[in-house]
Amino acid sequence: MNFIIQNLDRNITVANTETSLLLAIHQSGTDWMQSCGGKGRCTTCKFAVLSGVENISALSPAEKKYRQQGALLQTERLACQVRLTGDVTALIPKESKLPHINYLDGNIKP
Ligand code: FES
Repeated sequence: MNFIIQNLDRNITVANTETSLLLAIHQSGTDWMQSCGGKGRCTTCKFAVLSGVENISALSPAEKKYRQQGALLQTERLACQVRLTGDVTALIPKESKLPHINYLDGNIKP
């Protein structure tokens, strides 16, 4: 399975459907925002789904909670909460960009 990050021009191979996407991203050597250690307690690991939503596991309780609170848009998911079953193309939203990475659609500077 491939996790294609469009504004990072990166394709991450996810070998296992039991591995969280966040773990697979980190195992690939890609830096990714995460503030709670992948416990579903922040939303900093979020990404926007461009295609392949059918290849993402069902919403976790944490994702449902953040959706209800308006902290997670209908198109967004949490990397620490999802498992992939097929290819997904995504964008990193501005609030989840890291300052030391040059994203193709620009970076956030303080
Ligand atoms: S790392 Fe905090 S919700 Fe995913």
